[in-house]
Amino acid sequence: MHFQWYPGHMTKAKRAMQEDIKLIDVVIELVDARIPVSSKNPDIDTLAGGKSRILLMNKSDMADPAMLDAWIRYYEKKGYLAMAVNSKKRNELKQVNALIQKACKKKIERDRKRGILNRPVRAMIVGIPNVGKSTFINSFAGKACAKTGNKPGVTKGKQWIRLNKQVELLDTPGILWPKFEDQTVGQHLAFIGSIKDELIQSVELALDLIEFLVDRYPGILGDVYEVEENPDSAAVLEAVANNRGCRKKGDELDYEKVAFLLLDDFRNGRLGRITIERPEEFHAE
Ligand code: G4P
Repeated sequence: MHFQWYPGHMTKAKRAMQEDIKLIDVVIELVDARIPVSSKNPDIDTLAGGKSRILLMNKSDMADPAMLDAWIRYYEKKGYLAMAVNSKKRNELKQVNALIQKACKKKIERDRKRGILNRPVRAMIVGIPNVGKSTFINSFAGKACAKTGNKPGVTKGKQWIRLNKQVELLDTPGILWPKFEDQTVGQHLAFIGSIKDELIQSVELALDLIEFLVDRYPGILGDVYEVEENPDSAAVLEAVANNRGCRKKGDELDYEKVAFLLLDDFRNGRLGRITIERPEEFHAE
């Protein structure tokens, strides 16, 4: 299967982000905890330059709990302050404040030495589409925040959300497009539903997902769909279609329908908490 994206948008978004990043102290990058590598655009490393970096593995409520710590350690080794979050749970985001303070410790010390006390640090959220940036900003900022309006030295139209005495957040997230250097990245993004369904071949993708699940999470398909799991993905898909009554007029099995059913169940967490990518598959540089 061949996945494509829209490189045209990327240049413009990148340029805007380059400007925004100059204004901030810490870059808070969101990735999807189920695919912490494929949902991360490597260009951000160049764009973020010398800024402090925080990596939040969002949608952790849908990821395999056993994998979260391993991924945190993986990213910590790479120099990030990393944490697993569920942006839909406002209370769980409180710890992000402490992480921001930790990330900006040097800046805060520097300010203090210069006699500048209590200047809030400025943060910006970045990530690929659908990773949960808006949800995070809404939950993290809550309604307690007031927009601080334009200030001298701030790009026209930029709005800052004053989170508390210590942190201001740029209200618009930086959108990066995923990078499709390798087709696995496309496949993984398609699994989680981050590629428009018109662009994917659903049956082929569902077969790929079955192959992955039978290998890595044996028992799940058997339990959920009451089918016999075996390495022949097509046979498993057929069995699911039969059990779930996915048929066209004339009683022929509807493979498109069963493919979407399976993908939808996975994306909505009905197959349980599943992580697609494992740290040991990616060598830490
Ligand atoms: P974006 O700004 O990065 O493009 O992403 P956005 O916040 O729009 O979130 C994309 C989808 O992911 C939304 O679902 C949102 O609810 C969901 N989401 C964000 N963070 C989390 C999380 O931590 N856990 C879970 N389970 N879901 C999360 P949607 O179906 O598109 O919209 P909605 O029906 O939930 O409103």
